[in-house]
Amino acid sequence: MIGLLNHIAIAVEDLEAAGTFYRDILGAKVRGPADLPEHGVTILFVELPNTKIELMKPLGERSPLAGFMAKHPSGAIHHICFEVDNIDAACKALTEAGVRILGGGIPKIGAHAKEVLFLEPKDCAGTLIELEQR
Ligand code: CO
Repeated sequence: MIGLLNHIAIAVEDLEAAGTFYRDILGAKVRGPADLPEHGVTILFVELPNTKIELMKPLGERSPLAGFMAKHPSGAIHHICFEVDNIDAACKALTEAGVRILGGGIPKIGAHAKEVLFLEPKDCAGTLIELEQR
């Protein structure tokens, strides 16, 4: 079902400082920031040859990231995202396998203007997994 690792998302306390670290110290290509009000986050993209890192901080008062930051005030890995060929077929197969899909199972438009879904971490070996339509 899953294909390429599209990105790893890391919640950070200070987005600007994180971007500077990846660009100036690690020598990576950094793009952004971009506000995603639909997802309640602001993101900086770190572009690597084989995948991306998304550095995120909460956006707005009701950001879904607020609780995570309260638990991990200095930041932590938040989720990983895999590409799928057919997000609707993946959604159906996962539901049939007993994996809960967050947000009512309806794909939203993600950071790359493609449909995305998030899966319940308790059903995914403890990791928040995002699926993105390839
Ligand atoms: Co993501």
